[in-house]
Amino acid sequence: VLVVRHRMKNSGRWAAAMAILKDFEEKCATPIGKLKQVADAMNVEMHAGLASEGGSKLKMLITYVDNLPTGNEKGLFYALDLGGTNFRVLRVQLGGEDAGIINQEFAELSIPPDRMVGTSDGLFDYIAAELAKFVAKEGQDFQLPPGRQRELGFTFSFPVLQSSIDSGTLIRWTKGFSIDDAVGQDVVAELTRAMEKQGLDMRVSALVNDTVGTLAGGRYSNKDVVAAVILGTGTNAAYVERAHTIPKWHGLLPKSGEMVINMEWGNFRSSHLPLTDYDNSLDAESLNPGDQIFEKIISGMYLGEIVRRVLCRLAEEAFLFGDTVPPKLKAPFILRTPHMSAMHHDTSADLKVVGDKLKDILEISNSSLKVRKVVVQLCNIVATRGARLSAAGILGILKKMGRDTFKDGEKQRTVIALDGGLYEHYAEYSKCMENTLAELLGEKVSESIIIEHSNDGSGIGAALLAASHSQYLGVEES
Ligand code: GLC
Repeated sequence: VLVVRHRMKNSGRWAAAMAILKDFEEKCATPIGKLKQVADAMNVEMHAGLASEGGSKLKMLITYVDNLPTGNEKGLFYALDLGGTNFRVLRVQLGGEDAGIINQEFAELSIPPDRMVGTSDGLFDYIAAELAKFVAKEGQDFQLPPGRQRELGFTFSFPVLQSSIDSGTLIRWTKGFSIDDAVGQDVVAELTRAMEKQGLDMRVSALVNDTVGTLAGGRYSNKDVVAAVILGTGTNAAYVERAHTIPKWHGLLPKSGEMVINMEWGNFRSSHLPLTDYDNSLDAESLNPGDQIFEKIISGMYLGEIVRRVLCRLAEEAFLFGDTVPPKLKAPFILRTPHMSAMHHDTSADLKVVGDKLKDILEISNSSLKVRKVVVQLCNIVATRGARLSAAGILGILKKMGRDTFKDGEKQRTVIALDGGLYEHYAEYSKCMENTLAELLGEKVSESIIIEHSNDGSGIGAALLAASHSQYLGVEES
């Protein structure tokens, strides 16, 4: 190998790098025709997932949320939001009768990495302890009628098979979590036990996915919200389905006639997805090989890692960073999506941010402008593919809801609540996703489809659902 290295002239190295980059770009291509195929495949899988349990890779989970917030929710409620690298606790005082949120407070904490891969007790004990500390700081601005137990909406952002609004068993972990003894357990029972150990007297009255929380939070502020999408560490969507069109639902038809479905679209997979060797090896070496393929090409946990893998190949086979492969570049997940985003948004003439990131994170100093440009291009390829595919996913949902075509005379507005760090902080990504959706829908339709950022809707949404499923509902305040 050494001989080859020395013989490979600079121009040869550059040509080799360009060839690798070009090949990658071609394999990541997402022309409109392909995106439409992806949307159609998504629509087909949605039907299959609703037909029977296990009917599709899309779980299409029944959430037991058949009513979304109305504005009448009232009282003090807590929420606990667990699902990414951070978790949040919050309390809200709801005014009722459209008075909105009177008071709210939250705290955000990071989850120690060892708690994400240890035992169920380890995770839940930690969370319950932090929640107890937060509850202890409840001040005068928040009021619980005397004699009442505090109630909590639990946003748990993993696939859960629910049997009621306040119970459900973990199907499997996704993202960076892997705690074997929690799989198959009722996560509400686990949390409740941990809260009891802390001496915290609190009842979980709603268990919701973050997409469902975001949908609920979005609906509270905008009546036209009918779906929610998370683009964050992971990715997923929820939407309002007509209950009678869900063959696998054997319960009574809800009065509203509706049921919110948690799609778990991160696990979507189709032969139409533009997958590369880098994606395949990322998947094979992941905590959950074979699962969450859509998520692995779209979401924040993985985008930076895909870029790292391509850079590694460029270093090994085209000596992009000199004769040796920078050792840091070999460390999985060292290049995180926020770093990638910062490099992608670098507008300085000498791409200083890119140079700094290469140096600080990968210990690559003195990178040339040419090399920095390659890095930006790579970020662009990976982000564009993810963003365009997420737009295709949204089109799939709109198709399923029959809202993807223009109906004369109809002035129906469709609002989709969006949240997640990737959407919020990676501007090139969100811009591309929104432009692609408009392109897919065409001018006329796209006028009536609105994407709305629902800032931390999932926590508030969980508190709202805790309120509408409160054990004290109908009990008059004395
Ligand atoms: C993962 C989880 C899903 C969650 C999504 C976004 O895909 O499986 O439940 O909604 O991440 O946080």
